[in-house]
Amino acid sequence: MVKMPDPQSDFSVFGDMFYGAVASRLLMSAIDLAVFDHLEQAASAQAVARLLPAHPRNAQLMLDALCALGLLRKSQGQYQNQPPTSEFLVRGKAVYLGHWLQLADESWQDCLGGLTDKIRSGPGQAPPDEHWNAAAYCERFTRAHAATSLAGVARQMAAIVADAPGFDACRRMLDLGGGPGVNAMAVAQANEGLAAVVFDRPEIVAIARGYIDEYGMSARVSTMGGDYLSDDIGGEYDLIMVTDSLYYGDAELDQVLAKCRQALAPGGLLVGVHAVLTEEATQPAKMVLAMLPEALAGQAALPERGFLARAMARHGFAEISSRMAMVAGAPMEVNVGRRPAEA
Ligand SMILES: C[S@@+](CC[C@H](N)C(=O)[O-])C[C@H]1O[C@@H](n2cnc3c(N)ncnc32)[C@H](O)[C@@H]1O
Repeated sequence: MVKMPDPQSDFSVFGDMFYGAVASRLLMSAIDLAVFDHLEQAASAQAVARLLPAHPRNAQLMLDALCALGLLRKSQGQYQNQPPTSEFLVRGKAVYLGHWLQLADESWQDCLGGLTDKIRSGPGQAPPDEHWNAAAYCERFTRAHAATSLAGVARQMAAIVADAPGFDACRRMLDLGGGPGVNAMAVAQANEGLAAVVFDRPEIVAIARGYIDEYGMSARVSTMGGDYLSDDIGGEYDLIMVTDSLYYGDAELDQVLAKCRQALAPGGLLVGVHAVLTEEATQPAKMVLAMLPEALAGQAALPERGFLARAMARHGFAEISSRMAMVAGAPMEVNVGRRPAEA
């Protein structure tokens, strides 16, 4: 007689992972169908099915599952958006995150379709970062990124920058690789006396100018287009912030830091906020998973914690401090350093 197994572990962890994929598919279908546009007011499944249009029974099954995920609530057969759904997933609202999720989903679909093959055979011959050269992709990415900034990331980044010692006295700031410029606007709003320059590639600053005008910040936030590895980035800044941008190898990082040091006024501050990996590149789980499609495709992997503080030290920055801070629910490394006053 064979003894029955006496399991020591809980296998529900596998099911949870698997149903996580079901949840993400359901969310993306609801976004593709624009379901949430129809649920600002309570509505029945039949009414939603007519508006989409969709198969009545399957529409109800989808709506019930969206309730299970906490995206909708249901009362007496009527469905309605929960507050975060209403704020971020309804087209035409001040912030719409559907396009950001669709872009993230596309990059995952490209990767997931051939995940096993990619792990077995490597990234293949596709030139790394090729999509970055496509103007249309850059614009979609920058606008999707702007939506996440407007959805709260910019205010969190601004609070981190405003926490740097001497921030209130800063008058001239550079946001290096500033993307759509929304972070720089939030930082400028945290210090009335501050004028900010958003530096990014020319096609990106063209988009940033649109946001700066839209939010009435053009008197204090300007733009400069170029490649910060090779072009002039201006000078006499009291503060340079660089967030989510310095994902380069040491050689390029050294090039950028030498430029930053030179562009800062003596005593000026450099504040960097970046996603980093910790615990031998196995944490934070969110970051490890978020970077996987690009990393498997042979593009840049995230740096490990300490990369920027070490580079700052190599370039003679003083008073270097390093800490982790939560930004949009994910831990990021905050590094602050000062160009020595006498330098
Ligand atoms: C992930 S986005 C971050 C944007 C913004 N800093 C933020 O945190 O929202 C990275 C930005 O860095 C810019 N960038 C990267 N390398 C650059 C370079 N060599 N010259 C100019 N901009 C660069 C990209 O164009 C992009 O807008």
